[in-house]
Amino acid sequence: MGTPAFNVHAFRAAQRAAPLSDFARELHAGLSQETRSISPKFFYDVAGSALFDRICELPEYYPTRTELRILTECAPEIAAQIGPQAEIVEFGAGSLTKVRLLLDALEAPRRYVPIDISGEHLAAAAERLRADYPRLSVQPMVADYTMPLVLPSREKGGGQRVGFFPGSTLGNFTPEEALAFLQLACRLLRGGGLLVGVDLVKDPALLHAAYNDAQGVTAAFNLNLLQRANRELDTDFDLDGFTHAAFYNAPRRRIEMHLVSRTDQTVTLDGQRFRFEEGETIHTENSHKFTIEGLRALAVRAGFRPAAVWTDPERLFSVHWLQAQG
Ligand code: AVJ
Repeated sequence: MGTPAFNVHAFRAAQRAAPLSDFARELHAGLSQETRSISPKFFYDVAGSALFDRICELPEYYPTRTELRILTECAPEIAAQIGPQAEIVEFGAGSLTKVRLLLDALEAPRRYVPIDISGEHLAAAAERLRADYPRLSVQPMVADYTMPLVLPSREKGGGQRVGFFPGSTLGNFTPEEALAFLQLACRLLRGGGLLVGVDLVKDPALLHAAYNDAQGVTAAFNLNLLQRANRELDTDFDLDGFTHAAFYNAPRRRIEMHLVSRTDQTVTLDGQRFRFEEGETIHTENSHKFTIEGLRALAVRAGFRPAAVWTDPERLFSVHWLQAQG
């Protein structure tokens, strides 16, 4: 039997019949609303993840370096709360760097379960971690952690099961979504607890600078969403036709990021045309800021008992230990 010829017509038909990607589906739905929006989870393709890494190095972007400092300085206290033989479950594990600070401080950590929607990234990062922590059982899970999920059963003789949710990712959720996530986490972590890092309410000028950096990296990160759509989907966004806007919405205690149409224009997605008026926006991200008391009150509503909280001297960022009673 010879090699079957590549049938371009069959291939095209299969492509048409293939289900739309999540990105295509959600962008279509988001552009169809009166107030246009898209989930910030679509920022993180390869280019977007590299831009986010650059954001974390910016002089104006204090959250990452402040959280790393808190985790480093308070690691012995955190480790004392968690105890030996712990099982760490990380929600939305990216490059698996922050957890190393924790693992280095813990007494004989036993198992590490990083959960992420992107499988490739996760497998490579897990492999590197295994090489550095040969006594740790690393069991990555490809899943959407905002959905109910089943964890591998606890090991005999294991210590506390500890959730790890750093980076103020909780701030991307609406208050309702944040409560729902914490309720889910509380159920998963019964008998253990959750270590969560959240950005704090502060002088709006500092917040504004962190999301409007002088080098324009955050703008590039925001605009990459349109570039990604042009790369992966059948869209024709004019990259010069949109600008980055980020501002602090004080009543809602959140930074909002938008992409603002500079002119009246039309964008095509899957053959459908979407009209933009000058000044119209696509809302791309909310980054909620918390007070320490506000986060603790939210945790109580979700079923946790808030215990220790660690912060930096300037109170820019906070790391909370929330106990999930057995
Ligand atoms: C990763 C969601 C915490 O909200 O500060 C950084 C993402 N957006 N600059 C944040 C982000 C613009 C970041 N989080």
